[in-house]
Amino acid sequence: MDNQFYLSSFKAKSEFSPPKRVMIFDTTLRDGEQTPGLTYTIDEKVEIARKLDELGVAKIEAGFAITSKGEEEAIKKIACLGLKSIVTALARPIKEDIDKVLWCDVPYIHIFISTSDLHIKTMLNSTREEVLRQSVEGIEYARDHGVKVEFSPQDATRTDMDYLIKICQAAEEAGAEVLNIPDTVGVMTPRMTFEFFREIKNHTKVPLSSHAHNDLGQATANTLAAIEAGAEQCHVTVNGLGERAGNASLEQVAVSLATQYGIETGIVYNKLAEVSDLVQRFSGIYMPPMTPIIGDNAFAHESGIHVHGVLSHSGNYEILSPEFVGRKRRIVAGKHAGRHGIESMIEEMGLKPDKEQLKAIAAEVKTLGDAGKSVTDTDLYAIAKNIMNIKSDDRVKLKQLLVVTGNTVTPTASATIVIDGKEYVGLGVGNGPIDAAVKAIVNIHSEFKDVFLEKFMMKAITGGTDAVADVTVGMRRGDRFVTASSVSGDTVMASVEAILRGMNRLLVHENLKNTKY
Ligand code: KIV
Ligand code: ZN
Repeated sequence: MDNQFYLSSFKAKSEFSPPKRVMIFDTTLRDGEQTPGLTYTIDEKVEIARKLDELGVAKIEAGFAITSKGEEEAIKKIACLGLKSIVTALARPIKEDIDKVLWCDVPYIHIFISTSDLHIKTMLNSTREEVLRQSVEGIEYARDHGVKVEFSPQDATRTDMDYLIKICQAAEEAGAEVLNIPDTVGVMTPRMTFEFFREIKNHTKVPLSSHAHNDLGQATANTLAAIEAGAEQCHVTVNGLGERAGNASLEQVAVSLATQYGIETGIVYNKLAEVSDLVQRFSGIYMPPMTPIIGDNAFAHESGIHVHGVLSHSGNYEILSPEFVGRKRRIVAGKHAGRHGIESMIEEMGLKPDKEQLKAIAAEVKTLGDAGKSVTDTDLYAIAKNIMNIKSDDRVKLKQLLVVTGNTVTPTASATIVIDGKEYVGLGVGNGPIDAAVKAIVNIHSEFKDVFLEKFMMKAITGGTDAVADVTVGMRRGDRFVTASSVSGDTVMASVEAILRGMNRLLVHENLKNTKY
């Protein structure tokens, strides 16, 4: 793997002192799960925790124990997995909350209370003195019961600085081992964050931690600024999930720390994509293509100049190799594509067009692009085969599909598929007719078991109940990923055809066994 980074040679002259190592405190399972509309099952939480552990995060915040019985159970299960990451859970400085965390058998507790006057008055109906007293008592109670404590003054960045320092010092004296400084509503800029952390650091002794929210899109930048000012830990979530606009993203922060500062984090970088994909699947929240590091387009190139540049030297348009984070480069066919890109894609498909054929293929791709059509891998393959006069090499063909749906039946489908001339029948039951039809197909053959439908997008091209559906799918088998699409007036058929096209691309050179489920 190419671990070289192609960064700026400009070096900032202003004085800053980041630590050599930063602890990654992952709160995907707590703050991340506070994303509106999101909940994980206990099993999903456990699986995410295992993956975070393999990823190398220093701490996992497994949940907020007082929330529910299921939350408590999930935290306890995760705490008992024997992970290398330290498992922690959230509590207010209230005996009932802390007891719930103690029951979960975690070695570390994260205690928080609001410290801004706004929160103290309008949410807690309390006073600064009372909040300070409660914090100290909570920390001491947890310490007396044998757990280590991290303390967070919630809404720290809107808290009066003198009071913030006073409560941080009191927490430290009561035994808090880390002071986490939350920018709860994401109001900071990087420069403000830097000075804010410097100020607290000048008055405290224990390690500081950053917890940045993304309300103004500054969470990653603010986290880095806190670390430049000397914070030794940062709270992050996978895919930046979290309340409102989310938290600082683990992927962005960890990769920035590695590339820009050479800071050790313990993260196994080439597992980042896998963990991100798992969380996208479990959360049902899919990242926009332009998302840094893990988005579909983060290492994708279409325009002729860029493709030519990246193919002659990746550093021309990629600051790090996609493999470093567990992704693959994608060259995309489209109206901006040049002949270099199209040629490399077609060669990867195992085809060798001559110069004239290549010119004709590129021209057709541009014509489609001008007509507003995105060109998937299977479209390009079909165009190339047509121009090169290659007859169909589809191995998987649909013979018959029957779907039953209605208000009194569970959507059910049966599909007859011909694979290399041999007929197979599969059955599927799903949430709707498309789901049932897709399941009938993937259930047909054991070789389809490791084909994953990673993306599914349907657009109505025309309006009305007779609208034409345009389905695009992204399918993976091992490390091969292909896109395919189909258009039909029948939404089920458009979906099935797109999937079969993807299957045919993925299986074209494979040696299929004559097995069936
Ligand atoms: O954003 C916040 O203030 C929090 C605290 C619970 C640390 O998530
Ligand atoms: Zn938060």
